[in-house]
Amino acid sequence: MINFTYYTPTEVVFGKGTEEKTAELVKKYGGTNVLIHYGGKSAQKLGLLDKITKQFDNQGLKYTLLGGVVPNPRLSLVKKGIEICKANSIDFILAIGGGSVIDSSKAIGYGLDYEGDVWDLFDNKGVAKTSKPVGAILTIPAAGSEMSDSCVITNENGDLKRGYNSNVCRCKFAVMNPEFTFTLPEFQTACGATDIMMHTMERYFSPDTDMKLTDSIAEALMRTVRDSVFDVLKDPKDYNARAQLMWASSLAHNDLTGCGMKRDFATHRLEHELSAMFDVAHGAGLAALWPSWARYVMNCNIARFVQFAVNVAGVENNFADPEKTALKGIEAMERFYKAIKMPTTIPELLGRKLSEEEILEMADKCSRGDTLTHGSFKVLKMKDMIEIYKLANK
Ligand code: NZQ
Ligand code: ZN
Repeated sequence: MINFTYYTPTEVVFGKGTEEKTAELVKKYGGTNVLIHYGGKSAQKLGLLDKITKQFDNQGLKYTLLGGVVPNPRLSLVKKGIEICKANSIDFILAIGGGSVIDSSKAIGYGLDYEGDVWDLFDNKGVAKTSKPVGAILTIPAAGSEMSDSCVITNENGDLKRGYNSNVCRCKFAVMNPEFTFTLPEFQTACGATDIMMHTMERYFSPDTDMKLTDSIAEALMRTVRDSVFDVLKDPKDYNARAQLMWASSLAHNDLTGCGMKRDFATHRLEHELSAMFDVAHGAGLAALWPSWARYVMNCNIARFVQFAVNVAGVENNFADPEKTALKGIEAMERFYKAIKMPTTIPELLGRKLSEEEILEMADKCSRGDTLTHGSFKVLKMKDMIEIYKLANK
């Protein structure tokens, strides 16, 4: 077990009716004048905007509304948000939505306390020392931003999607009522389940193999997500199954499943280039890449893939042929993605193959011109990234 720090300061308020506590929570964390930040129509359709603004009116909280966050949230709206907050002396940001809205809120929070251009942080040119407080009402279990230290923003200028990680942006609270996820379309439900699985797998596929407790938690989480997503696709109003997914979303990315392990996150880095260039849903992009990443790296630690195949995918262990068992685990994962209508290759994701030039451009951006490596299970250089994109492009 390698040394680790486990830090999860977010107050989780989970279950039916918990949104009623939002004003109280905002006040508890020092908010008096709030930016209510949201995406397209879902926050309104769910009745959350009405509910929360009435609650704030009744409890004497001032607020300003800013909607329009799109999936793969854009830097231009973040900058607009920063200006609005400055002009209105905002001291708290409430995100109502999923990873995109929460990340846009976190970036606004950073920008309010950072003297330079907020993009500096994402461009490795600056460090955030503080940030304005953010709270979230989660409406889609997926990205795990409600408890993570991460914030991912797309700069339209150059199609760059970059993340910045710091504890200062962690949400003060996360309100999670699974009933608000009943309206999620099948596609978003499946993308979310894929992202939750992947946040766990990015930690599970680690060069460290002596983490029994963390492994057991991760394996249980992955089996629960796999079973619950089928329950939800059968009955979108299955409260208990929606609740499993929602809690799993947070636990998968608050680092519980990474304690004592080296993280990998190479599939995520490769995917961010896909969603930056083609504006695809993050979860679908991950599903399209993971099988190719897995086949490319599995021989670095075949025992790990065997463990996954047996304990998560339910494959019988062929002790005489570990590679066969490992491959069956990867194939089982592909069948899972297909069953929930996720793509397992880039052509399935985009409806066409990538050109040679596009692959080179993505690998170049991902490796920052062959100066940056990704992953720990296998450390990927630019040439490896090209090979994985090519494998996924078949
Ligand atoms: O815009 P609205 O109308 O709200 O619609 C959204 C959006 O179109 C819809 N939706 C949300 N809740 C709904 C709903 N539709 C019906 N009923 C509801 N209850 O779902 C769509 C997707 O929302 P989005 O917030 O984009 O999804 P997700 O949570 O998957 O977030 C994806 C973003 O998070 C980043 C991704 O890269 C991507 O930009 N990530 C953030 C991470 C983090 N900060 O820790 C880690 C992740 O690995 C990821 O990179
Ligand atoms: Zn993710």
